[in-house]
Amino acid sequence: MRDVAVIGVGMNKWGELWETSLRDLIAQSALMALDDAGIEEVEAMYIGCMSSGLFTDQEHLGSMGPDYSGICPVPGTRVESACASGGAAFRSAYMHVASGMADIVMAAGVEKMTDVDGGGATFALATAADQEYEVYNGVTFPGLYAMMANHHMKKYGTTRDQLAQVSVKNHYNGAKNSLAQFRMEVSLDQVKNAVMVSDPLTLLDCSPITDGSAAVILCSMDKAKSLTKKRLVKVIGSGHASDTIQLAQREDLSSLKSTAIAAKQALDMAGRKINDINFAEVHDCFSIAEIMVIEALGIAAQGKGGPATADGTTAMTGKFPVNVSGGLKSKGHPVGATGVAQIVELTKQIRGEADKDRQLKKADIGLAQNMGGSGASSVVHILEGM
Ligand code: COA
Repeated sequence: MRDVAVIGVGMNKWGELWETSLRDLIAQSALMALDDAGIEEVEAMYIGCMSSGLFTDQEHLGSMGPDYSGICPVPGTRVESACASGGAAFRSAYMHVASGMADIVMAAGVEKMTDVDGGGATFALATAADQEYEVYNGVTFPGLYAMMANHHMKKYGTTRDQLAQVSVKNHYNGAKNSLAQFRMEVSLDQVKNAVMVSDPLTLLDCSPITDGSAAVILCSMDKAKSLTKKRLVKVIGSGHASDTIQLAQREDLSSLKSTAIAAKQALDMAGRKINDINFAEVHDCFSIAEIMVIEALGIAAQGKGGPATADGTTAMTGKFPVNVSGGLKSKGHPVGATGVAQIVELTKQIRGEADKDRQLKKADIGLAQNMGGSGASSVVHILEGM
């Protein structure tokens, strides 16, 4: 395995983008990433996308990706692992370069979700759950995460305020992110009193429906040194694991085994402990998800994710900043793009290029955690500035 660096990143402003098509989204971020790397050509492209067919009637992104990025005839491969599609695409591109098959590869992610109405989006997203045992019986993702939240509250005493604090924190951070979908701060009362989606999760405990894309360029370390003068950002750890697709089959409803395993793989590969990491971008698709993820990563002990959120451990100025970008909650969650956008954020933070008001003072090693479904697949990466 060769050393691999991220040498270019691109991400468009996320939101409800009526005037930007799926292909425009791909092109925008891909061209930004190429421009940032100072190159015009790559040898392959991986593109994470969960459900362009159901959202926009368009499949075959293995062709559309390279075509609208202006890099044909390089091979394009679409990667799908529900909301972890972006993280899995990044890992595929990483392995392609690390193996020596190619020197420069693009990993992109995209989802255009607002061309269908709310019911259509809920239906498309629910295809990531177990159709026969969950969706057929009426469960959707807010419902699945609400069950996890209720279980966590009962088992560990996690409170409604602790859940809401995840959203308060991430909206505070996202309000400072120039590319975020919802750039407004919210209070604990606003979160708790917002319209109920699935008890105990209100509208403001949920990530939104978003159009967006992101792209990064990976390069062998030797070549990267001659190509860019920017700080080199090395991929030092990569992990990927799965769990039962059906929530009811899990050993424990209130812990995320796939994330814990993927994180251990990534940390072992990097030769680091979680406390060596300076900051993390994690998959807060619902407020309870961030609490369970920080427990699975070891940022908080099992059952202590709520108190760790409430006492400011994961705040921008805390001991272990989590989701300084605003996370999925405030930045938005175009599902296939999310995992790649986390790498964009890590790279910008490590290079010192994040928005001024949310650039961390210490950002040399960052961790990205991206997951699919109710935690049925997880991808974890660790990046370090050289
Ligand atoms: N956070 C903050 N504001 C939100 C929001 C969110 N998550 N979702 C919608 N809004 C805002 C909209 O901008 C709109 O504001 P406006 O009236 O000022 O224009 C208002 O709330 C209503 O929006 P609407 O689009 O009608 O909401 P909805 O009821 O159709 O959808 C959810 C709300 C929470 C059901 C939807 O965002 C959702 O399903 N989220 C979860 C997505 C998901 O499951 N992702 C996969 C995770 S595994």
